[in-house]
Amino acid sequence: MDSETTDSQHSDDAAAPNEGAEAPDEVAAPGEAAAPEVDKPAAPFEPDEAEVDEAVKEAEQLVAEKPDEPDEPDDEVVEDKAAPHAGPAVSIAGRRVAIGVDIGGSGIKAAAVDLDTGELLSQRHRVPTPQPSAPAAVIASVARLIKRIGTEVQLTPTTAVGVGYPGVVMGGVTRSAANVDPGWMDFDADAAMERVLRRPVHLINDADAAGVAEMRFGAGVGRRGTVFLITLGTGTGSALFYNGMLVPNLELGHMEIRGRDAERRSAAAARLRRGISWKAWAADLDEHLLAIEKLFSPQLFIIGGGVSKRAEKFVPRLTVRAEVIPAKLLNDAGIVGAAMAADEREHDLS
Ligand code: BGC
Repeated sequence: MDSETTDSQHSDDAAAPNEGAEAPDEVAAPGEAAAPEVDKPAAPFEPDEAEVDEAVKEAEQLVAEKPDEPDEPDDEVVEDKAAPHAGPAVSIAGRRVAIGVDIGGSGIKAAAVDLDTGELLSQRHRVPTPQPSAPAAVIASVARLIKRIGTEVQLTPTTAVGVGYPGVVMGGVTRSAANVDPGWMDFDADAAMERVLRRPVHLINDADAAGVAEMRFGAGVGRRGTVFLITLGTGTGSALFYNGMLVPNLELGHMEIRGRDAERRSAAAARLRRGISWKAWAADLDEHLLAIEKLFSPQLFIIGGGVSKRAEKFVPRLTVRAEVIPAKLLNDAGIVGAAMAADEREHDLS
């Protein structure tokens, strides 16, 4: 008995924090407040205006070089399955409308959106994302898509454009470029697009856009607590809502699992790239969702992106405790949410 007591006392002693070891600099001693950061405040972000000027000039040249003539056997037009519109553009007077654009790793989609119902008022247009996907080339594609939409519905110069971008967006500046050309890093995209498109433009992260639309018109309506929208495409996007309120720019596609970005295995593109079965891919996706669940304990995962059409192939195989449901707006969520974000920015008087 005695020796047990002694042992346990010893082991308590042995457990004393940092005994014999020097405390690492960043760890505050017990009872002491951590030293405040004394570094200079971060320099305010200055977008590079020359870079914007150059992209605007190049985009305008590209638009001029490739007039939008849907009858031309131009690759891009062939890819856009929307039929050329016959007859005059339809009036949208009396409706609240914005254009939604969704920039993806492989395609750019766009449509005019009724902001009160989430309904698409034009055809849904899609063209391949230019390769390389440098800002000027992408902006030129967006300009051509909007021109086409303008042949279907009567847009006014104040009809705003919302753009879902596959990376971090802060104050209209694109701050990451995981699945697009590095030219988007720290690029003042709102300013460049407004100059080329000559109308109000606002960018938002693509997963945030899809999430906003699903919460308002789709699978997330009325859902409170912690809800994730996970979009599975070229990358894996994540949007977090608490009681319906968005926490923007969550980048859970890049959390590390097995030593690499989780999206390398969980994105829809990973299944195709690796040529694996739905079952094997569902296990990889499950691992990613379990890691998220461990950190955030959500009530609900809404799964978006093109694969949400094939939910039966993988949703029943997921083992997370949270409810998992496919997105309702399917592939339109990104377009609808981007349009909503543009409108909210336009009316944001704060
Ligand atoms: C990007 C995210 C984006 C997701 C889906 C990721 O690689 O970092 O911002 O939402 O892909 O496009």
